[in-house]
Amino acid sequence: MSTADSQIPLWMNDKFIMSAICHYENNPQAKVLQYSIEPAKKSGGNQGGSAVYRASIIYCSNSIIDKIFTIIKTQPVVENAEKFEDETAFNVETSMYKILSKIQLLMQSIGDSDVLCPRLIFQSMEPQPVIFLEDVHMNAFDFMIDTIPEDFEFSKMIARRLGKFHAGSYYLNKIKQFNPAYFTFSIYEDYQCINMLFDKPLRIFIEVLSTWKGYEKYVEPLRAFRKNFASLGLKSYKPHKGSTTINVLNHGDFHSRNVLFKRDLDGTLSDMIMLDFQTCVFATPAIDLTYALYNFVSDSNRNKHRDEFIAIYHQQFVETLKQLGYQKHIPTLMDLQIEMLKNGNLQVITAICLKYLSYFDYNTLEPEDLTNGMRSIKIKAFNSNGFKKMIEQELPRFLYSGII
Ligand SMILES: Nc1ncnc2c1ncn2[C@@H]1O[C@H](COP(=O)(O)OP(=O)(O)O)[C@@H](O)[C@H]1O
Ligand SMILES: [Mg+2]
Repeated sequence: MSTADSQIPLWMNDKFIMSAICHYENNPQAKVLQYSIEPAKKSGGNQGGSAVYRASIIYCSNSIIDKIFTIIKTQPVVENAEKFEDETAFNVETSMYKILSKIQLLMQSIGDSDVLCPRLIFQSMEPQPVIFLEDVHMNAFDFMIDTIPEDFEFSKMIARRLGKFHAGSYYLNKIKQFNPAYFTFSIYEDYQCINMLFDKPLRIFIEVLSTWKGYEKYVEPLRAFRKNFASLGLKSYKPHKGSTTINVLNHGDFHSRNVLFKRDLDGTLSDMIMLDFQTCVFATPAIDLTYALYNFVSDSNRNKHRDEFIAIYHQQFVETLKQLGYQKHIPTLMDLQIEMLKNGNLQVITAICLKYLSYFDYNTLEPEDLTNGMRSIKIKAFNSNGFKKMIEQELPRFLYSGII
């Protein structure tokens, strides 16, 4: 019945597919007639992150024959490991899909037909943590962006969608529909990760900056920031109490590989869907908004329209809450701007440590660039015209608004 392929885990067998379909159809008599599974990512579905497979399944339930196209997401096989080390990410994603379907129902109840995420078809922690999702390529969400479009309308679409998603989670939290304690992911708890991803690039950037003329005034504040960024980050990833603070469910990893787009006939990106909810965190919306500002707003639009982007998100957040009949205090735009400022540490980290690779010219790659923790790639990227142009717009704001 299946496609024999050494890259497909043995447990993804007839019995497993059958139990998924019976569960999906809520019918123990449902029968799988035919299915095929193939890796959805290159190199056997194991290029970091999860192992992802595409499965098409033809089945019969209550005398009706149907076909579904699914994505099967599971943990990559770790050689010699008996049991997967960490199931938390899959538990978070499964819990999150349940909340997302509640938000989706709320949106439908107010006549909003936007689709936030793929439909969850089946999930199980046995024999391995696994999630079956509808394959959204079939719904024409088949495009991933490589570079951020210059069209600000595109960025506005992102701001609005994020506003809806966050408003739904804000509302559900206020009516106690989920337990925020399930969503406590924080990259800042992983010292090895923050050392490699944030501290090293910061250190090298400060070294590079010290060689640029006219930038001396930023060096000391950045050195001080480097000492504090980890504790500031820990704080940003925790929910806060207070009448003007805002807590929402953040996607937590809101970058371009986790969003698929639909294109109109003229190529305009007209609709989007979010993927990959393994790092969701209940905390300030500044987390996703910062990701959004740097991953879905071009450098020139961020300079021109930063506040407008935040205001469009806020306008949507308020509108959705009002449509849902939310009667209590709704955070004001100023509350949100204060969140962005108080969590400005996230912007510094994103601008310096997460953006530099997108400015690296891979045509200049030499073998030694890959040695010594890719130090020379960082130096080349920080000294590139694109990065320099971006960061010289950001540094004065970081300094004069007290973020560094
Ligand atoms: N429901 C889906 N429909 C279509 N493609 C998907 C779906 N879920 C994941 N993918 C594809 O698989 C890739 C990896 O999935 P993702 O959930 O981001 O896992 P991870 O980043 O943890 O490996 C996505 O970038 C996308 O290309
Ligand atoms: Mg992903």
